[in-house]
Amino acid sequence: MLAAVALSQSDADPLSGLDIKDVDEPVAPEGWAKVEIRSSSLNMHDVWTLRGVGHPADRLPIILGCDAAGVDEHGNEVIVYPVIANPDNGGGDETLDPDRALLSERHNGAFAEYMIVPQRNLVPKPAWLSFDEAACLPVAWTTAYRMLFTQAQITAGDSVLVQGASGGVASAAITLAAAAGAKVYATARSESKRALAVELGATEAFESGARLPEKVDVVIETVGEATWGHSMRVLRPGGTIVIAGATSGMNPPADLGRIFYLQQRILGSTGCTRSELVAMLRMMESTGARPRIDRRIALKDIKIGFQAMIVGDLRGKIVVQV
Ligand SMILES: NC(=O)c1ccc[n+]([C@@H]2O[C@H](COP(=O)([O-])OP(=O)(O)OC[C@H]3O[C@@H](n4cnc5c(N)ncnc54)[C@H](OP(=O)(O)O)[C@@H]3O)[C@@H](O)[C@H]2O)c1
Repeated sequence: MLAAVALSQSDADPLSGLDIKDVDEPVAPEGWAKVEIRSSSLNMHDVWTLRGVGHPADRLPIILGCDAAGVDEHGNEVIVYPVIANPDNGGGDETLDPDRALLSERHNGAFAEYMIVPQRNLVPKPAWLSFDEAACLPVAWTTAYRMLFTQAQITAGDSVLVQGASGGVASAAITLAAAAGAKVYATARSESKRALAVELGATEAFESGARLPEKVDVVIETVGEATWGHSMRVLRPGGTIVIAGATSGMNPPADLGRIFYLQQRILGSTGCTRSELVAMLRMMESTGARPRIDRRIALKDIKIGFQAMIVGDLRGKIVVQV
């Protein structure tokens, strides 16, 4: 079968280590399921793996891809929950299992014609979602969902700033927060991306670092160094920043005085539980919230999609059709 395989890592030229090649079809052991993949989607996580960030070289070669929607061996349409972990080891929350692994970290991922996952990782795909839409959800959308509803616990009327607009997590956060009745502000680096934020449901969109009309209850952060100072400045006393990524850099000044004097709450967030994915599907059905798909590409053209992601030339999720 055809697959996109990470063979080596390079910070300067991450795509040099990615090969589209024929590999053996996987065989599911007892308790695992084989999925014929119809659609998957790109995440920054794949780029970090190719850059050698958070992924030891001794785990190569590995098939990349964290998001999948497809059909199991019994003909059921499924979404693949992407965290392989034991909830019991995380106090009932598999994202807190110290031994958890996202697909493509220790197990082959979704950029292939077939993949195998533990049976519990299959979630029924609702008929009202296409395979392409379903493939946008497992990483970016569920990360945004957990940030907003589990970590920040937003309710209707809360003011929420989403840093970035065009990214997978950021576009999901704008859509979901607006669907929940929050007043959503977003920042983005270009006029067309700010227009996208408003199209997705933001009340208003601003240039990165701009003064907002008010201090906000919650900031959703995945950008890191480039926006962190702004995130702290626009937060009301007692407000919450939830951070799930740091695309532009990991180590901005901590500004400890501001944190304790204004009693700001800073919460990390990673992935989601299987039950959060199911809960998000219920919310999407009742609100009509759907992912914004930037473009659809064939598996053989995956490098073109990654190049767009690396330079920030995207508006939502890039879907890979297998
Ligand atoms: N913890 C988790 O479970 C988890 C899950 C998913 C993702 N992540 C992390 O979250 C981050 C985003 O992932 P993604 O898949 O959504 O990536 P993506 O689709 O490539 O989005 C990148 C986002 O970052 C913004 N951005 C990048 N550089 C910027 C800069 N210098 N200044 C201002 N904004 C900048 C972009 O905003 P514009 O609209 O202005 O271009 C865009 O919204 C990554 O670091 C990823 O590793 C973590």
